[in-house]
Amino acid sequence: MEEERILSPEADEIEISLEKSLRPQFLSQYIGQDKVKTELQIYIEAAKNREEALDHVLLYGPPGLGKTTMAMVIANEMGVKIRTTSGPAVERPGDLVAILNELEPGDILFIDEIHRLPRVAEETLYSAMEDYFVDIMVGQGATAHPVHFPLPPFTLVGATTRAGMLSAPLRDRFGIISHMEYYKEDDLREIVLRSADIFNTEIVEEGAIEIARRSRGTPRIANRLLKRIRDFAQVQSNGVIDRSIADQALRLLQVDQAGLDYVDQKLLKTMIELYSGGPVGLSTLAVNIGEERETVEDMYEPYLIQKGFMKRTPRGRMVTPMAYEHFNYPIDPIE
Ligand code: ADE
Repeated sequence: MEEERILSPEADEIEISLEKSLRPQFLSQYIGQDKVKTELQIYIEAAKNREEALDHVLLYGPPGLGKTTMAMVIANEMGVKIRTTSGPAVERPGDLVAILNELEPGDILFIDEIHRLPRVAEETLYSAMEDYFVDIMVGQGATAHPVHFPLPPFTLVGATTRAGMLSAPLRDRFGIISHMEYYKEDDLREIVLRSADIFNTEIVEEGAIEIARRSRGTPRIANRLLKRIRDFAQVQSNGVIDRSIADQALRLLQVDQAGLDYVDQKLLKTMIELYSGGPVGLSTLAVNIGEERETVEDMYEPYLIQKGFMKRTPRGRMVTPMAYEHFNYPIDPIE
């Protein structure tokens, strides 16, 4: 199902290589996230002036907003190398030590999905982050003994969709905690125009605005839609993306006027049709639409909540009157 979903904020392999070519290299090229950029700019400049490693940075926010890109931008701005891994890729503390061991002073270790790091590996990070060393057990049984590894000063950049899922000791070791937010429409418009330029695709302002408006505040989705709409414009028209072409292609892709795709629509309609608008528990809802609970929590509902289509209550999720209106349902009289 995920593969078919045009509005999924998760990247597939081809997209990852595409994103690399679209990726801004420096803060000055990075569009949007002004608050995060302003803060980082100051901390980066201060660390460079002192010739020290930048403090550890935690980037959190929904998928597709450019957390990995920001980590790479930080490395470029600091003029250091970056090594990348992810929480699920680290199985044992030894996996982390192998990576830490290759770092040079000031380098960045980027851990994506850091909330999925196994607990033992997470504990290895505490001393690494605080005092630049790790103690690990080597050997087995009677020959087992601790080995002390000093590390160079380095910067850990962690990315997570949910800061609440990090343990307090880990979270407390990040000196800089930056929240990435859904992009403003105007920033997304600029991103679409920049990407179209990189693709050598002709686009008019209104076409870019239409894509920006219907991309769930997410650059990864905007760039994915841009690619599909570019194909549509090429085959159905003269290759130029204007508002009408963008709208026709988006309809074909089942992205509605509010930028909701069929999974979003199914989620809201399920709540209305089966549960009279809620409250309904997250797990029940997830089962009903055939998704994992975590997927609903991380990927679908944050945007629907932000846009005012649904809300969290102590008794479960509820749709708002706006959702009824959106689908032209009469408001439930019981509600
Ligand atoms: N491409 C994807 N995200 C971007 C961003 N935030 N700034 C510039 N180009 C981008």
